[in-house]
Amino acid sequence: MMKKFYIVFFVLALFTSCSKCKNGQSSIDCKVDSLLQLMTFEEKIGQLNQIDAGYVSPEIKAGITSGAIGSLLNCPAQNINEVQHLAVDSTRLGIPLLIARDVIHGYKTIFPIPLAQACSWDTAAVALCGKVSALEAIADGIKYTFTPMIDVTHDPRWGRIAEGYGEDSYLTSVMGVAMINGLQGSDLADGKHIAACAKHFAGYGLTESGRDYNVANTSEERLRNWILPPFKAAAEAGVATFMAGFNELNGVPVSGNKYLLKDILRNEWNYDGMVISDYFSIEQMFVENYTPTRGDAAREGINAGVDMDMMGHVYINHLDSLVKAGAVSMETIDNAVRNVLKLKFKLGLFDNPYIDDSNLGSTHYSPDALNASLKVAEESVVLVKNDSVLPLDASKVKRILITGPLANAPYEQMGTWCFDGDKTHSVTPLDAIKEQYGDRVDIVFEPALDFSRSTDLEGVERAVKAASKADVILAFVGEEAILSGEAKCRADISLPGVQNELIKKLADIGKSLVMVVMAGRPLTIGEQMEQSDATLIAFHGGTMAGKALSNIIFGESVPSGKLPVTFPKMVGQIPIYYNDYKTGRPADYRPTLLNEIPVEARQTSLGFCTYHLDAGVGPLMEFGYGLSYTTFEYSPVSLSKSEIVAGDTITASCTITNTGGYDGTEIVQLYIHDKFASLVRPVKELKGFKRVIIPKGESVTVEFPITAKDLSFYNNSSELVCEPGEFEVWIASSSGLNDNGKIFTLK
Ligand code: GLC
Repeated sequence: MMKKFYIVFFVLALFTSCSKCKNGQSSIDCKVDSLLQLMTFEEKIGQLNQIDAGYVSPEIKAGITSGAIGSLLNCPAQNINEVQHLAVDSTRLGIPLLIARDVIHGYKTIFPIPLAQACSWDTAAVALCGKVSALEAIADGIKYTFTPMIDVTHDPRWGRIAEGYGEDSYLTSVMGVAMINGLQGSDLADGKHIAACAKHFAGYGLTESGRDYNVANTSEERLRNWILPPFKAAAEAGVATFMAGFNELNGVPVSGNKYLLKDILRNEWNYDGMVISDYFSIEQMFVENYTPTRGDAAREGINAGVDMDMMGHVYINHLDSLVKAGAVSMETIDNAVRNVLKLKFKLGLFDNPYIDDSNLGSTHYSPDALNASLKVAEESVVLVKNDSVLPLDASKVKRILITGPLANAPYEQMGTWCFDGDKTHSVTPLDAIKEQYGDRVDIVFEPALDFSRSTDLEGVERAVKAASKADVILAFVGEEAILSGEAKCRADISLPGVQNELIKKLADIGKSLVMVVMAGRPLTIGEQMEQSDATLIAFHGGTMAGKALSNIIFGESVPSGKLPVTFPKMVGQIPIYYNDYKTGRPADYRPTLLNEIPVEARQTSLGFCTYHLDAGVGPLMEFGYGLSYTTFEYSPVSLSKSEIVAGDTITASCTITNTGGYDGTEIVQLYIHDKFASLVRPVKELKGFKRVIIPKGESVTVEFPITAKDLSFYNNSSELVCEPGEFEVWIASSSGLNDNGKIFTLK
């Protein structure tokens, strides 16, 4: 009976007090404040506590009932209504739980990993992934997910490169915003969209030696111009939450970093969403001896502005004593609770926290979802070499050997961060090619290796034997899913196991060899590319990866992907990236390589420029690179003006002609270099791109407006400046084309 009284009292209080909303206050803010006034200190602290409920234990149920838990991570769908009823019916104020789960690139229907999605350079494709993911997840009670990961990085040794959108700040910004819009839509309470999370704020991708959780150091200029822009774009796009990361930035753990979380996020960017920690990341400040006690870690986290403690148990265990000791103010607590409650109201949880669990899973793997995943997977494939082998003509090929450890690996092709994808729904390359062409082409399957790390040469011999009787060899190589993702870093980023031997032996047979790389990162595959007649980079393409690759290989779909990340020749070149610096010793000529140096060469005989003796100049493949089955010709860039003043817009345009035999899609890229500035500026920076469909034989003129925003950068005093001077402009099919650009002057 008492319970009913409180609910009635709460509802009445909520609505009567709303009549006293402060002027200009939104109705949600008003409800939040009204609710806050009713809450005890313990109830407030409980809202800041997120617990992993992969198994809903009696202790977790007790924690919910006592109001000590405000959010659950990983709660099974079949327990959602039970735990929400506990929260709503058994606690004094009936505040529903915030249910969260990592839905990074799909929930049940798995899309390509984010690094692969970035290869599409198609914001609509990324948004589609978000939209489908939200629809599938919300049916299981998930209202909050921890994506997009928008940590740029230069390091393919880092396992989490798989989870982001590559090395470029601009591309990562637009892809991150697309994912946020896809997940969140325009109404978080519409039953089709869920809250997103911009993570990991900030600098996680700088992790030294590519080893996860390692320190991250950078200059203010680099922080502002490279690391932060995707997060600023996410905040401006209205991302519901931010996640503070595991790393330190310049010595200060980001989960206790007031400069990032207060000065920049709240005060400069005016962000008013919720900030959650990463898993234990607040408690980790004690583990790494940043604070002498866990209570001190809690103080650093809450005072820096982390609203919710993910699994650290430090808020629930220490905030009471911290407030009593005056180390944390009630205002700070109230602000954090306000951010949590605002999110719950925005998500409609107070109206209805329950799901229809009568037919769980019925909305998963719909034809629309699978077709969406297929579309994105096709656009995510990058053709990087083709010596007139692809596309295959099924009417002319008699026998194909399909081989390699990723040819029929339904689990591996889904990639990292795939908690809920069911491999029985995966369409592998073998499945798809047999299904589509098995009636016309003799398809022989010899995996050669059962998994990517295998060293079983016997299997390789069987594949080599089968290859000698085939017309074309399709070798699907790469990494198992477990070799990338969180804490999955590699110091050697070549193909694992004996895959290099497999490619070499297959190449020696002299048949047409197509290598398809399915991995979670760029790999050092230069030699294997030389040995292959054609190479496709697919990364991990998700549930429909096999169908997408079959469509590309046989020409049902023309490849359009472009690399969002540099492929180094050797791991020793890392960091190597397109928007680097000319230096005072540019390697603008071909320097002598290690094996060309004469014995007893004189110290001064090799010249003096910036390169590695054993790797030469430049990467294996550059950012923005990707081929098509057709060819595109670019006209010289034309500029609407040769000089502008601050506030002007200049338009750069170029006509692209499809000079090949296929209709195709070209990703036209705009690069700009600030020739002389108060800081040395990158040799070029991506400032825009457009995906254009160009029928064979036709031309399209692409225009890019350039404004001061595109010419500005942050200096080391954190000032955004746009300095007069010369700017060089390219419109190109890749970052690697170095012909002279067009110059204009900003007066
Ligand atoms: C992990 C990851 C983070 C993820 C969270 C919840 O450790 O760092 O990205 O969202 O914990 O699983």
